[in-house]
Amino acid sequence: MVDSLRSHGWFRDEGVLGFTHRSWLRNQGHPDHAFDGRPVIGICQTASDLTPCNAHLRGLAEHVRRGVYEAGGLPMEFPVTSLGEVLMRPTTMLFRNLVSMDVEETLRANPLDGVVLLTGCDKTTPALLMGAASVDLPTLVVNGGPMLNGRFRGRQLGSGTDVWRFADARRTGAMSAADMSAAEACMSRSAGHCNTMGTASTMACWVESMGLSLPGMGALPAVDSRRAALAHVSGSRIVELVREDVRLSAIATRQALENAVVVNAAIGGSSNFAVHLLALAGRLGVPFGLDDVDRLGRDVPLLVDLMPAGRHLMEDFCYAGGLPAVLRELGDRLPHPHAPTVTGGTLAENTADAEVFDREVIRSVADPLRSDAGLAVLRGNLAPDGAVIKPAAASPRLLRHAGRAVVFHGVEDLHARIDTVDCDADSVFVLTGVGPRGFPGMPEVGNFGLPKRLLDAGVDDAVRISDGRMSGTAFGTVVLHVAPESAVGGPLALVRDGDLVELDVPARSLHLAVPEEELARRRAEWTPPPRAAERGWVRLYVDHVGQADTGVDLDFLVGGSGAPVPPGNH
Ligand code: FES
Ligand code: MG
Repeated sequence: MVDSLRSHGWFRDEGVLGFTHRSWLRNQGHPDHAFDGRPVIGICQTASDLTPCNAHLRGLAEHVRRGVYEAGGLPMEFPVTSLGEVLMRPTTMLFRNLVSMDVEETLRANPLDGVVLLTGCDKTTPALLMGAASVDLPTLVVNGGPMLNGRFRGRQLGSGTDVWRFADARRTGAMSAADMSAAEACMSRSAGHCNTMGTASTMACWVESMGLSLPGMGALPAVDSRRAALAHVSGSRIVELVREDVRLSAIATRQALENAVVVNAAIGGSSNFAVHLLALAGRLGVPFGLDDVDRLGRDVPLLVDLMPAGRHLMEDFCYAGGLPAVLRELGDRLPHPHAPTVTGGTLAENTADAEVFDREVIRSVADPLRSDAGLAVLRGNLAPDGAVIKPAAASPRLLRHAGRAVVFHGVEDLHARIDTVDCDADSVFVLTGVGPRGFPGMPEVGNFGLPKRLLDAGVDDAVRISDGRMSGTAFGTVVLHVAPESAVGGPLALVRDGDLVELDVPARSLHLAVPEEELARRRAEWTPPPRAAERGWVRLYVDHVGQADTGVDLDFLVGGSGAPVPPGNH
């Protein structure tokens, strides 16, 4: 039990500072006992009309608040910049690190003893976690939960995943504009984030698998009243974590990160997981690399049959037992079942009674959807520092493939020429200039649509390679996160139309079959692109951003500075 809290540095002062801190807060109606030394709990809010996936977090915060009061804490809700995946341009990833700074500095600058992070849409989870990790207060995550299942003309409609299908169907004329418009409303029929196992749900499961949220938090629909109850209990629990001085770093250990890799494979989680996991590891000061992601994810069975790797949606996942059921099913396939969690119990203890209620949705280890579902990390002369592919969302026939390169330099070039390029079903489509620094911001364009000519011929997948990312809701044989990226002179910049590219996922290799002398000649000719911006955030970002294999964090943000009480200013 701790008897001295950070917030005492503000509220126990008997001079003008303490007067000021208390007096101005009293304008919100806090009684005397609010300042008796009780834990002050931040509720880090990402609700915004511009982030539809998180808009309902305003209401959820009220439930956290109730729980904080009930346990004798003082809740303080505060906003940070929100990151809405669907509206923000050019890509939310450009701002993940910015928001992490917002979170970090707000936590440290204020009289907070612990924090509940309210997350939802993709980047809000890693941004908030990264910022919190650099401060290392007791921390608990409450995510907003997925939307209810979409339904369109009798069939399930998955956020994102079906959009990619519809886009192709529109281009070939198989779907009318009217049907497309009708589908819009059917896809998003309640509050919440994407209802597929896209990045938002992946992140929610990530947090739960690391023991940073209460069991069951990952899958409950946004509108399920049990989520509100969990938020309430979370509010109470964070007060206890402060009293017990259980900091984020005591839960988010290397063991937790290792567990998360295995869980991500078993649920068919997003390829974005790799980038965010590595960035968080960097903030925590835990050595963790792409090779760890590959090694730990190998031979992990795919247990969860959710889009985009499978058929169902998050609501089905919840009713089938959710993540606790998967954790129990994994059992000793988890590297560290006895890792601690925010409940005070271990992961194994928390899930000892979890049951699977629908074997269509959550399969057994003995009867998985596929036997090897982890993200695969490729290396070779085309990706010396690594590249990532999600085999669970790829076409098995293309996992070993050689083909001639068709190269696009940037998104505009891609859009201008995709339907007119010379190509065939074996072509390997290469997109450069979409890495962390190049675009900038590493957009989700790696799963770009195929040439109409191939779609018309019935080709539904082809190997695509880029230094960008892809949406967690997307699918295809898509090699992503090539490092180093083309904009810093990575070998991807040297590929020319017609070069032979060899992909061998089982052997974890990505090779450009061009003689080294020729590559050296091309390298000597290469000139770096101009800096993407001369001022503002983007200038800071491009000057300091790291590559995908270390999580795309800014160099000066790696690590943490703890939670010292800053000096007062009066
Ligand atoms: Fe927000 Fe998918 S767009 S979670
Ligand atoms: Mg996304």
